[in-house]
Amino acid sequence: MRLAGKRVLITGTGTIGGQGAAAQALFAREGARVIGCDLKEGAAEETAEQLRADGLDVSGTTVDLTDPGAAEKWIEDSAASLGGIDVLYNNAAKARFAPFAEMTLELWRDVIQGELDVIFHTTSPAWRHLKQSGGASIINTASMSGVRGISPLGQAAHAAAKGGVIALTKTLAAEGAPDGIRANAISPGLVKTPSTDAFIGDELRTFQMNMHLIRRPGLGDDIAYLAVYLASDESSWVTSRFSARWVTTPTTSIAWIAGASGAPSSTRHGPRATPPCSRTPRGRLHDSRTSGPTGHRAHLVQRPRPRSGNRLLLRCAWVRVLLPAGAIPGSRRHLVL
Ligand SMILES: NC(=O)c1ccc[n+]([C@@H]2O[C@H](COP(=O)([O-])OP(=O)(O)OC[C@H]3O[C@@H](n4cnc5c(N)ncnc54)[C@H](O)[C@@H]3O)[C@@H](O)[C@H]2O)c1
Repeated sequence: MRLAGKRVLITGTGTIGGQGAAAQALFAREGARVIGCDLKEGAAEETAEQLRADGLDVSGTTVDLTDPGAAEKWIEDSAASLGGIDVLYNNAAKARFAPFAEMTLELWRDVIQGELDVIFHTTSPAWRHLKQSGGASIINTASMSGVRGISPLGQAAHAAAKGGVIALTKTLAAEGAPDGIRANAISPGLVKTPSTDAFIGDELRTFQMNMHLIRRPGLGDDIAYLAVYLASDESSWVTSRFSARWVTTPTTSIAWIAGASGAPSSTRHGPRATPPCSRTPRGRLHDSRTSGPTGHRAHLVQRPRPRSGNRLLLRCAWVRVLLPAGAIPGSRRHLVL
């Protein structure tokens, strides 16, 4: 079981066929104890009841996460019930759309609250519990809309909120790493769920399908399998994000790869490390393990400049393996990308 003993919270589990409900089922089958929640009265409870009939260790609560007090209560009650939190999966969001020319301030604010604020409302009170876990994972659901411009439907507010989720995730990853908290964002393309079935028209479906390398909408389970990986110790070397749309299908243009050559578990036991590799103002990788304060973690993923036409990401360690000392004249400590 890939998540045996993990104490997991998932938001937005109340729609059967949605990503949250799919994740709750898969996580629980992988051995996690999972508490869900949903805005719709009784919906998270109903999802959980169906799963409990299969002997799974799950429950659900009705909560409106746009209310910070209610979100905090759900987090604290859940942490007390599970004895802590190892994984927080921020899946819930309520989108609204309008072409930018017609977008009202009311809609803008409502979307930012319903898609971005809700993640602050859960993650802020959960942070101390995640720290105590010592090997925690935050999974945030962003969207392809936060990665590139999509015209149909009118997505400016939605895109801004999801772009905010991506930026927030990167910072949580950076601030959480010393305490063993990883943070990754999943940015799906079109996923077939009851929510999307209700409002996706032909124009958006065609636009989205033309972005997908795999020419079908994703399913809740497609996302849940990825989330299981990000929640599990299999991904203990994966934190922060990069857009993988150049590397793989935009259907799951996740975040990913990372950061720390010492997994979060090792950072718990060692001193806080100075990132051994960093980017100098001239776009070079600077290796502080040989020229600066000592550290024990390789830390950054660097993207080559666009001029190369090749956006593959290189980790410092790869560069060190591929380019032995002396391969670049004049220095073994500074490698130009
Ligand atoms: N479906 C897609 O094509 C698609 C694409 C990209 C990103 N996403 C994102 O994936 C996530 C899941 O969406 P989905 O369409 O897969 O369906 P889902 O069923 O997982 O939907 C989200 C659930 O969250 C609940 N919810 C919404 N606001 C809430 C609140 N304030 N408090 C508590 N619960 C709340 C809803 O009632 C719903 O049950 C969302 O963050 C969405 O923005 C979806």
